[in-house]
Amino acid sequence: MCANSIPLQTRLPRTVRIAQVRKETDMVTTFILPISLGSLPGQFVMLWLPGKDEIPMSIALDDGENLHVTFFAVGDMTKALQKLQAGELVGIRGPFGTSYAWEKKQRLGLVAGGYGAAPMFFAASQAAKDGCTLDVIIGARSKEHLLYQETFASLPRTTVHIATDDGSAGHKGHNVAVLEQMLDDGERFDQIFACGPERMLVAVCALCEKRGIPCLLSLERYMKCGYGLCGNCSVDPLGIRLCVDGPVVNGELVRQISEFGTYHRDELGRKHLF
Ligand SMILES: Cc1cc2nc3c(=O)[nH]c(=O)nc-3n(C[C@H](O)[C@H](O)[C@H](O)COP(=O)(O)OP(=O)(O)OC[C@H]3O[C@@H](n4cnc5c(N)ncnc54)[C@H](O)[C@@H]3O)c2cc1C
Ligand code: FES
Repeated sequence: MCANSIPLQTRLPRTVRIAQVRKETDMVTTFILPISLGSLPGQFVMLWLPGKDEIPMSIALDDGENLHVTFFAVGDMTKALQKLQAGELVGIRGPFGTSYAWEKKQRLGLVAGGYGAAPMFFAASQAAKDGCTLDVIIGARSKEHLLYQETFASLPRTTVHIATDDGSAGHKGHNVAVLEQMLDDGERFDQIFACGPERMLVAVCALCEKRGIPCLLSLERYMKCGYGLCGNCSVDPLGIRLCVDGPVVNGELVRQISEFGTYHRDELGRKHLF
């Protein structure tokens, strides 16, 4: 995709006043912005704080009136965002990237790790409207880090499964192990969607290949422009740019990305092993 094919109004930042700040956990915050960008589940926006930074953020919901983003306070920018109150301004560009897709009434398995629960919720809420039946498997370090559990459970035809590393809630271990057990028990899915840490995506991708199930995975790389211009988010050896050819990528394409699960590049293009 050519950068110029993305409309100018999508590429330019606009300033929005935060309508509501929701504290999810000690480290996780949701902004509700009074704006709709006509976004699709899996797409992302670039959030901007003048003088600080601009970073990619998945869209946790765009319901036609409000847009939600949910973020972990991990570094300079996200810690600065965490301090903002309702009524303060933030810059936003987008929506950018590819999205999750399904057919009406499909049986979907959604695997969510960390803040991956946020974009998975957007996908789940829209797929539920299309009559899909959903099994959502949320993974976290411990129960206090689980995100969106009740929100998923409020959706129709949706079953929520939990996995925690320390066993403080649900299955003790990884959420992909829960998916594998479900498949062993005879559950059948039309598609699997996943968003979370790359090691989790590697396990989902391998499991889906072994069982012959189509999957869509959300991959993250360092993003600057967000619309295909700078090349910072290109992946080896294909050279596809994950801001326009991703972040949502199908399993067959993911398996051709040699750096998947092995390394990623920082803002200067230097390699870092996972
Ligand atoms: C498509 C996409 C969707 C994302 N969605 C979410 C989300 O919904 N919620 C959330 O909490 N986080 C999300 N992230 C990650 C988020 O962008 C980084 O955590 C954030 O940029 C960290 O910035 P910082 O200044 O607070 O921390 P820093 O200390 O600057 O960075 C911490 C780590 O975040 C990553 N990072 C920093 N800047 C960027 C950048 N411009 N592009 C990509 N990665 C970066 C790097 O791996 C870095 O090591 C997403 C990333 C991508 C690529
Ligand atoms: S972030 Fe610039 S090309 Fe993808």
